[in-house]
Amino acid sequence: MDWLREAERARKEFYTLLAQADTPERLENIRILFMGRRGKVTRTLRMLAELSIEERRRVGEVFNRLKEECEQKIDEASNRFSSKSERGPSFDVTLPGKPFPRGRRHPLTILEDEIRDIFVSLGFEVATGPDVEDDYHNFTALNIPDEHPAREMWDTFYLQEKEQRLLRTHTSPVQIRIMEKSKPPLAVISPGKCYRRDAVDARHSPVFHQIEGLWVDKGITFAHLKGVLEYLVKRLFGPEATLRLRPSFFPFTEPSCEVDLDCLKCRGKGCEHCGFKGYLEVLGAGRVHPQVFRNAGYDAEVWSGLAFGLGLERIAMVLYGIGDIRLFLENDLKFLRSFL
Ligand code: FA5
Repeated sequence: MDWLREAERARKEFYTLLAQADTPERLENIRILFMGRRGKVTRTLRMLAELSIEERRRVGEVFNRLKEECEQKIDEASNRFSSKSERGPSFDVTLPGKPFPRGRRHPLTILEDEIRDIFVSLGFEVATGPDVEDDYHNFTALNIPDEHPAREMWDTFYLQEKEQRLLRTHTSPVQIRIMEKSKPPLAVISPGKCYRRDAVDARHSPVFHQIEGLWVDKGITFAHLKGVLEYLVKRLFGPEATLRLRPSFFPFTEPSCEVDLDCLKCRGKGCEHCGFKGYLEVLGAGRVHPQVFRNAGYDAEVWSGLAFGLGLERIAMVLYGIGDIRLFLENDLKFLRSFL
């Protein structure tokens, strides 16, 4: 066998393959092909044992040199690959980035944050309660026992399980939860979602938001209630804004009232937007009923309080001049982008 020609052929093949190696993986394959345990060079060196001493020395020298040369070239190529990747990405980092759309707060979140700030500035704390409530907190503790006709007005969605939990119809159960774990005096608001079996129309949605308010102290009167609500309305709508208190009934307040705001669309004349009433009912309120205090473990002879539950969508409709409550749920980007 002409060992020298064999070595020359192996060298040529090595350099041809090396020139095509454009990834570290390909380079590794070449190393295995020539210098691996069964590689071309390794195999030849093993075969030397069969040669005479003189030939073994001569051929061995040629193949050992070839082996060293190939190893050196592979190391050099491998260093080139690693220094390339250390140099970082091969794109221009100074080019302006691709713009991607930024999200923004939903109009109801904007308004909720604003109302929170107003009440916090008055010294109210903020609390939350569960959307999935039990019958006791949503009804019974609020002086609406089983079979009370008010339950029908606040009918809701029931979970099919033993304890008969339900989706809360208002944020008022949070009043009870707060009083169960805190001692008076206290002033708290609680924003959150409410659920009702209400048919959808321009002013009603089966899912909507309320902000509950509860202020318990000694000597709280209806004048405090009017003062707090007027302050809220003037901060939201400006110093000219007025509200109307209409006598009403809630089992958990006595006396009770509904609070209306003039419709900004028709300025009180009556239009489609307000159901031709000239005003929009935005919240219910009153002085806390003594039975509610007793249910929560408060001494009704000592403590007095005011409570209210405002409809966030309704206030937003008046504030932003929106004619249909469904717009808040439709996710129409054109609508949502018009709020900053
Ligand atoms: C209540 O929910 C009482 N819990 C409010 C309250 C709290 C009274 C504390 C006294 C003391 P009412 O059912 O009227 O009351 O609802 C209050 C407000 O929620 C309404 O004025 C209205 O603004 C809003 N609201 C009620 N139902 C819907 C509905 N289906 N879609 C949108 N908003 C609604």
